[in-house]
Amino acid sequence: MTKTPHAFFRPLAIGAPEPFREQPTRVERMIHFVPPHIEKVVAKVGSLIDQVDVVLGNLEDAIPADQKEAARGGFVRMAKDHTFGSTGLWARINCLNSPWVLNDVMTLVGEVGDKLDVIMLPKVEGPWDVHYLDQLLAQLEARHSVSRPIQIHAILETAEGVKNVDAIATASPRMHGMSLGPADLAASRGMKTTRVGGGHPDYLVLADADETSGIPRAGFQQDLWHYTLAKMVDACLSAGLKAFYGPFGDFSDPDACRAQFRNAFLMGCAGAWTLHPSQIGIAREVFSPPADEVAFALRILEAMPDGTGAVMIDGKMQDDATWKQAKVLADLARQLAAKDPELAALYGLS
Ligand code: GLV
Ligand code: MG
Repeated sequence: MTKTPHAFFRPLAIGAPEPFREQPTRVERMIHFVPPHIEKVVAKVGSLIDQVDVVLGNLEDAIPADQKEAARGGFVRMAKDHTFGSTGLWARINCLNSPWVLNDVMTLVGEVGDKLDVIMLPKVEGPWDVHYLDQLLAQLEARHSVSRPIQIHAILETAEGVKNVDAIATASPRMHGMSLGPADLAASRGMKTTRVGGGHPDYLVLADADETSGIPRAGFQQDLWHYTLAKMVDACLSAGLKAFYGPFGDFSDPDACRAQFRNAFLMGCAGAWTLHPSQIGIAREVFSPPADEVAFALRILEAMPDGTGAVMIDGKMQDDATWKQAKVLADLARQLAAKDPELAALYGLS
């Protein structure tokens, strides 16, 4: 059963703000995770705000059970002490069956509801999880006179969630997007890997044997996450949401991190999580399109001002469809140029 279209956009509590009809346009190349129970990390948030697109206070996994309240309190202080400007402020709350989540939501909305852009909801299994948080947020927004809706970002990290990904994406106008969580997903699915994202040396396709050549058979590593990422991108983009790759756990392997992020970027994702400062630069590089691609996209748009017909550019056929592809890149480049003068200069869009 789904709601009628007019009911879908109605606030879920009297006095709650109107849901967004369109996603707010924001640059979100990296969602940078901060552990708010660690004082010396929180002390550095001021300088982080200018370096990242989103600062996320993590209250869930990686925060020890006896530090959950300290993390919640640290997040509130961090939110109150800083002005975030165009940098997003997000929080990852504890999962819905945990003993901490109710206080997470009540405290966050009550204390900093007007500063919080997005709540990241872990281990979402189906639309029912989104509906619960949607209703609760509306009640709390009304109680605390929050003026704009706090969005929900689901982590796709259970087998059940992947099965229900389309219904999750369309569960509420409060949905911002989704991130792939490879660690929990691997566990939930019974995958036999201890890695957080990336490839696996044993997930291979073996080249055909050629006994006559004597050359050992080559094995080609495949992408363990391809199916899920593609499924999530389709669910999100068809619903007007943004898709993100989540964590990459091996901080000692920047090349593999870059490759994972780049696959996500090419597949349609807007950004990824950064868990370590060294990953911030990688995400900025990967999720900002290369200057030559942007230049080519701008040439296509210029050659086809009304977006119809067919032209040849450098021997490559362009038509209405490639115009749309070019527009995706050009729109992203313009958004980035508006935020970052260095990129504006690089793209010739200053
Ligand atoms: C992220 O939360 C993950 O489980 O990968
Ligand atoms: Mg997880």
